[in-house]
Amino acid sequence: MTAEPAAIICGLRKSFGAHDVLNGIDLEVPTGAVFALLGANGAGKTTTIAILTTLLKPDSGTAILAGFDVATQGARVREAITVTGQSVSVDPVLTGLENLTLIARLRHVARPKQVAAELVERFGLGAAAGKPAGTYSGGMKRRLDIAMSLIGAPKIVFLDEPTTGLDPAGRREVWGAIGQLADQGATVILTTQHMEEAAQLAGSIALLHDGVIAAIGDQAAILAAAGNAPDLESAFLTLTGAGVAL
Ligand SMILES: Nc1ncnc2c1ncn2[C@@H]1O[C@H](COP(=O)(O)OP(=O)(O)O)[C@@H](O)[C@H]1O
Ligand SMILES: [Mg+2]
Repeated sequence: MTAEPAAIICGLRKSFGAHDVLNGIDLEVPTGAVFALLGANGAGKTTTIAILTTLLKPDSGTAILAGFDVATQGARVREAITVTGQSVSVDPVLTGLENLTLIARLRHVARPKQVAAELVERFGLGAAAGKPAGTYSGGMKRRLDIAMSLIGAPKIVFLDEPTTGLDPAGRREVWGAIGQLADQGATVILTTQHMEEAAQLAGSIALLHDGVIAAIGDQAAILAAAGNAPDLESAFLTLTGAGVAL
């Protein structure tokens, strides 16, 4: 039996004043996989995530998340998802363990302390669990953020540019943490400006450019969409126009 898609998005449009950001996004996100929404800075990734997570209303189009319509069943959608924004949301004064325990209490999970203790271990934060999160490295803060996103067993986890601003070591740490999310059976929808990162993490990539999905699929499909580009970086350049930073 094929699971119903985690997200079904049809004809999504959004403008800010005269600026058309989304010009008709069509997407289907398979359940239980890591899905990357790839696009240059300003392409509309955060706008798309905001619509899918019910924070922003589209001008037109529909989005069904975990079987629920964002327009008419917002509360049900919000129960099924977690969102980690572009800036880290950990409380710097609380320890890693306290941050996780707090979120577990807020989400009304059973045995919040035990859940928190398991997560610090699973995300490699055990040794730092008793230290204030404000003292953590960028990669550790992001891993804590991602561990927090798992609490309450969400069906869909949204991560908006989870590695932006991290050094290469921090980025690799976060890649490992995202792998953990997928192993839990959650559908992960992440955004990135980096083709290489999308290819590393996601089985399926959707390239957002000029307000539409310019290419979608696995690595082979993206290369083919770029006229059989020799590698992913040149595919990105071909599909988005030269001069876009990778
Ligand atoms: N609330 C807003 N009001 C006006 N313009 C906005 C607003 N939010 C985003 N934009 C504009 O929409 C475009 C897409 O933004 P965004 O979705 O944040 O892109 P990305 O996340 O891909 O970098 C940008 O040009 C941005 O300036
Ligand atoms: Mg953004």
